[in-house]
Amino acid sequence: MSRTPIIAANWKMNMGPKEAKDFLAALKNELSCECKAVDKVIVPPFVTIPAVMDTLNGCTCLGVGAQDVSDRDNGAFTGEISTTMLNELGCKYVVVGHSERRQYHGETNAYINRKIKKALAAGITPIYCIGETLAQREAGELETVLSTQVVEGLEGLTPEQVGGLVIAYEPVWAIGTGKTASAADAQAAHAFIRSVVEKTFGAEAAAAVRLQYGGSVKPANAKELMSQPDIDGALVGGAALKADSFAAIIKAAL
Ligand code: PGA
Repeated sequence: MSRTPIIAANWKMNMGPKEAKDFLAALKNELSCECKAVDKVIVPPFVTIPAVMDTLNGCTCLGVGAQDVSDRDNGAFTGEISTTMLNELGCKYVVVGHSERRQYHGETNAYINRKIKKALAAGITPIYCIGETLAQREAGELETVLSTQVVEGLEGLTPEQVGGLVIAYEPVWAIGTGKTASAADAQAAHAFIRSVVEKTFGAEAAAAVRLQYGGSVKPANAKELMSQPDIDGALVGGAALKADSFAAIIKAAL
């Protein structure tokens, strides 16, 4: 099965509305809007999403996502953002379970599972982040960690729902460190993740689910990583803060 590559810019706590507008103007000069061969997604901070939508002005060449979402519908949950609010803004994607949320906000697989279900119920595609720490990799726990994250994070989903997901494999030791997993190590982890999806949800879901690599992706390593058979795109942090390097990564997926 051929899977459309998906490249997402995770801006984290960077890029206010003004910077985002400048970025999009610069990106427009670098990319042709027509290119449908790659799905391109911008994931700004919540407060920047309206400015991104205004600038896109209905153009669907870029999908827009949020960096997190509440597992609740509405009510007294200070600081939280609901799927209804994301829908109102026109967000098509939401990143859930990013390692920084797991590390700094104590998010567990069970909690992330509730967010994934909320997003799916609202018609928003989750980009579900998983990945091992360096200590876990060195202790030989890579496969246990990944399979637990897949099984617990996706618990209760149908094979169809899983097939429509994006799963981002982001080894924690590679995020923002400049250290990238080798293409061979990344491919091995992705193949393993796909095998867990197959065992848990069946062959069709495994063939359809898109697996992104994340962790110090940059123009210089993007092509080799994305030419691996089980790597269907990239979740890009630091290198997605500049339009020229983000555009170069998108072009590497073509
Ligand atoms: P990085 O971040 O590209 O800066 O390593 C990736 C991510 O955390 O999604």
